[in-house]
Amino acid sequence: MCGIIGYLSRTKGVSKKIIHNLKKLEYRGYDSSGICLLKNNKFLVKKSVGEIANLEQKLNYDDDCVCGIAHTRWATHGKVNLKNTHPHLCPNKTWAVVHNGIIENYLELTKLLQDKNIKLKSDTDTEIIPALMEICEEKNNMDKLKYVTGLLSGSFAICLLNKNENALYVARRHSPLYIAKNQDSCMVSSDPVTFGEDYTTYFPLPDDCFARVDLDTMLVYNKNFEKITLAPCEIGSFEKSAELGKYSYYAEKEISEIPKVVEQILLNYKTVDHFKKLNKQFFKNIKKIKLIGCGTAYHACLMGEKFIQKDARIEAQAYIASEFRYSHPLISNDTLCIFVSQSGETADTLLSLELAKKMGAKTLALVNVPYSSIARSADITLPLCAGMEVAVMSTKAYNAMLTVLKMLSLHLRQLNKNNVDEDLKVLNNVDYFKNIDKIDEISDLVLKSEKVFFIGRVEDYVTSLEAGLKLKEITYINCVSLPSGELKHGTLSLVDNKSLVFVIATDENLLSKNLASASEIKARGGKIVLVTNLDVKRQEEIDYLYKFDKISSSLSSILSVIPFQVLAYKTCIKLGYSPDKPRNLAKSVTVE
Ligand code: G6P
Repeated sequence: MCGIIGYLSRTKGVSKKIIHNLKKLEYRGYDSSGICLLKNNKFLVKKSVGEIANLEQKLNYDDDCVCGIAHTRWATHGKVNLKNTHPHLCPNKTWAVVHNGIIENYLELTKLLQDKNIKLKSDTDTEIIPALMEICEEKNNMDKLKYVTGLLSGSFAICLLNKNENALYVARRHSPLYIAKNQDSCMVSSDPVTFGEDYTTYFPLPDDCFARVDLDTMLVYNKNFEKITLAPCEIGSFEKSAELGKYSYYAEKEISEIPKVVEQILLNYKTVDHFKKLNKQFFKNIKKIKLIGCGTAYHACLMGEKFIQKDARIEAQAYIASEFRYSHPLISNDTLCIFVSQSGETADTLLSLELAKKMGAKTLALVNVPYSSIARSADITLPLCAGMEVAVMSTKAYNAMLTVLKMLSLHLRQLNKNNVDEDLKVLNNVDYFKNIDKIDEISDLVLKSEKVFFIGRVEDYVTSLEAGLKLKEITYINCVSLPSGELKHGTLSLVDNKSLVFVIATDENLLSKNLASASEIKARGGKIVLVTNLDVKRQEEIDYLYKFDKISSSLSSILSVIPFQVLAYKTCIKLGYSPDKPRNLAKSVTVE
């Protein structure tokens, strides 16, 4: 959700490096982008609407500057246009800022500025920050930053330039920000993924802290204005794993990596005993489990709920993080809260984690980004080992979430027996993409239909939710997902001869019930695509049978979602849209 870069170098010509790295943050938002360079105590600003490539066209990279900040925007306050594109400057052009997050009290603060006759140019919540820096009466710039950030409520990661200094001023609350330094340069970024080429270590800026960084020094303060020292983190392979290689799109690359990801998980969990701390002692008083996440991660939570209840017979319930926080959750020290997140930065999930901790729950996180806030904050973290995921549509991370949740539910079933990998070994020997070429034809069916539905029962219902989300987010086709049994309680009225219904069936015991739902649809003129890995004898109701590889029904959901990930991708390409950067969305949602 908005990407920030700040960069200082001993060598002139920083714009190329800044834009090169800003592009690595484009997954965080791509509504518009801008750069501000410092030259002879003056700011040079260039902005552009749309992808960073548009901004690049306005730059010739022959600047002789040593210092700059840049931003790629996911609009929250104010339309997508040049006026609202960051960086924003204060009226006397002393300060420039880039910001990720939402300043909740910006209207109140705007009034304060109006009283001092300060006129703002944009509709953003961000522009107040440099304006407040300008009017702040503190003498020292660090004191000004402390004062101004103290006025702000909401979430922010900010990087500021002052026209008289080759230095970066940074601060953060809830939104992530990282700093890296070497002999020749320093960089501030929303994601350490930008550090891999030039640095070996980096420093996560802690919450509610602020800093001034230049080529020689790094001064960091906590909210009590006490000087603190940050511990460096090593840059690992994760931060370097985002190359597109031979693929046209990250979505395609990431779907193709699913088998490797599952293999990597099995290997990693065999080598490192991540479940060690999740022992009998840990679970002694645990009576209920809550799983919390957003979007695709929430669907993984729903699947985890089904896994845990079935395998371990412990009461489990999944929650959408943004709902969880406001639904008066019943939490005490007999509750284990499991947070599932690819990025580990989703604001609602992170804030739910803080709430659960405050209320005395034990906390466990399943996170893909190892250095993320959620990974650092939970009592115990289970890695997802999926490597960096760049496409906004989450694919391989979902399969990873299901694999780790299945391992967890089996571990809970047989606490301290330690042979979970035996049950999952079969995952190394399945064909994840069996019959995948047929998806091409099925995507034509989707394009010809007026209405699309996905139905299934229990775990297959969860897959239907994820299938629908994939299709919606990158093809913009409206569709409905629901439990098969619920169809006749209302939604069946929508079904007619322009409807295409995907019936997902991976449980032998529920097959006849799913086929009965298919008959009800067929009788109303709807077309049926059955997605299954079971042997289906009765095929009268089915217009199209898609079969994926056989595997025990308890592991089927790791496979059954793949045809739908590919379906969304293929349909999106046929429609001429970008599968990696769907409109209005961003990969990492660091605002509530
Ligand atoms: C955004 C992404 C989704 C993702 C959700 C949760 O909306 O576009 O793909 O599922 O956030 O993200 P997380 O990083 O917490 O899994």
